[in-house]
Amino acid sequence: MSQSLVTMSYIVATILFIFSLSGLSNQETARRGNYYGMLGMAIAIIATALSASVTSYAILIVALLIGGAIGARAALKVEMTQMPELVAIMHSLVGMAAVLVGYANFMDSTITIGGVEKTIHEMEIYIGILIGAVTFSGSVIAFGKLSEKISGKPMLLPGRHWFNLMLLIAAFVLGYVFLQQVESGGNAIIPLAIMTGIALIFGVHMVMAIGGADMPVVVSMLNSYSGWAAAATGFMLSNDLLIVTGALVGSSGAILSYIMCRAMNRNFISVIAGGFGTGSGGEAAVVEGEVQPISAEETAQLLLDAKNIMIIPGYGMAVAQAQHTVNEITKLLRDKGKKVGFGIHPVAGRMPGHMNVLLAEAKVPYDIVYEMDEINEDWAHVDVSIVIGANDIVNPSALDDPNSPIAGMPVLECWKGETTVVLKRSMASGYAGVGNPLFVLENTRMLFGDANATMQAVLKALKG
Ligand code: TAP
Repeated sequence: MSQSLVTMSYIVATILFIFSLSGLSNQETARRGNYYGMLGMAIAIIATALSASVTSYAILIVALLIGGAIGARAALKVEMTQMPELVAIMHSLVGMAAVLVGYANFMDSTITIGGVEKTIHEMEIYIGILIGAVTFSGSVIAFGKLSEKISGKPMLLPGRHWFNLMLLIAAFVLGYVFLQQVESGGNAIIPLAIMTGIALIFGVHMVMAIGGADMPVVVSMLNSYSGWAAAATGFMLSNDLLIVTGALVGSSGAILSYIMCRAMNRNFISVIAGGFGTGSGGEAAVVEGEVQPISAEETAQLLLDAKNIMIIPGYGMAVAQAQHTVNEITKLLRDKGKKVGFGIHPVAGRMPGHMNVLLAEAKVPYDIVYEMDEINEDWAHVDVSIVIGANDIVNPSALDDPNSPIAGMPVLECWKGETTVVLKRSMASGYAGVGNPLFVLENTRMLFGDANATMQAVLKALKG
């Protein structure tokens, strides 16, 4: 394929990626956004495969087959609840690719550039490996935390901020040494290797220090890093499409991180510096009081007596795969003339938009799905709220216990409505590992059991 055709294909792919991102920003256009993304990626892969930069088709085909098979198997096997872990581990691969491409470029003796151009190329290699290594190790730890293979509790080393600062300064100094060694023809691989080790430690330390409830920010931040790592790889390989695509992912991930921080009332810098999710250092209040259990039949009666109903889905709805039953109940209640809405917290579930995806899959109409800010003033008009497998996002201690690890995070204030029914299997805490005083409030009833089973029982009672 001629170079101009490759360039044109890259431009088309870039435009499709932009359409894809804009489509993904709205539920109704998200499916179309995905198709644009798939088409853009197919064009990008074909154009690159047919370009002059490919020197061995045998290696390319073997790599495509291995990568494609692993990707297809992972995508087919993954449960919806494991999606965030899959995304985290995918980010780690982007990081690893940047590191490997960096080293391959560094060792490539066929690159014959000199002067300023060479210095810039060496800097690209250094920065690319730095970002890639941080992304790699940080994403592996995020994968461990999200899959609960590593404790969600923050690991807070004494003097951790000084430690981070030391690592940062060391990375700068080593960068200088690296460039000097390259200039003088010395052993530049040594500072490069030490910096790689430092970046790996930094990635591990940064994510280990972040408390459970702040993980959403880390997930979106690593998403952003993986974009910058891809852009760095693009610079090293002189591939414009990779630079543009990486920049798109990097900047949209950064915007998402900002949105997440705002939703959780967190300071971005403080989250990435670690140590959030720890409250003010005191002990979080212990929840005391009697819970009031309720049966499925009584819940059905409550719903039949109510006019205005709000459903709050959380991670447990994803685990129980209760969204289809919830949709049936919603239809039935709306047919009876009830006003039914869904209140979505920005960090409900385990990934951005998790609940919206589930509700869309069950075909819940978009116009009754509200964001937290749209409804948090209106609880006084709600007769019954049904909390389905949610915990942290409806925890009043976020607002009134300054020692709580989730202190300051805005939550859905459902307890201000007339009655709240909470569906969960036990009194266990949620992702942030804190007790929830909502469960013992006067106007709260607990409907214990798997959310799909209890929702089925409520549906049966409503029909009966
Ligand atoms: P959580 O606070 O994790 O609470 C989920 C609740 O669902 C648990 O208390 C659990 O109680 C219940 N549950 C689990 N399986 C169930 C089942 N089969 N049937 C019924 N209930 C079930 O979830 P949330 O309220 O959605 O809050 C999200 C949390 O995850 C926040 O802390 C957030 O910061 C964090 N997080 C979010 C993200 C993103 S981007 N959304 C990413 C990482 C972390 P039982 O065990 O008693 O049933």
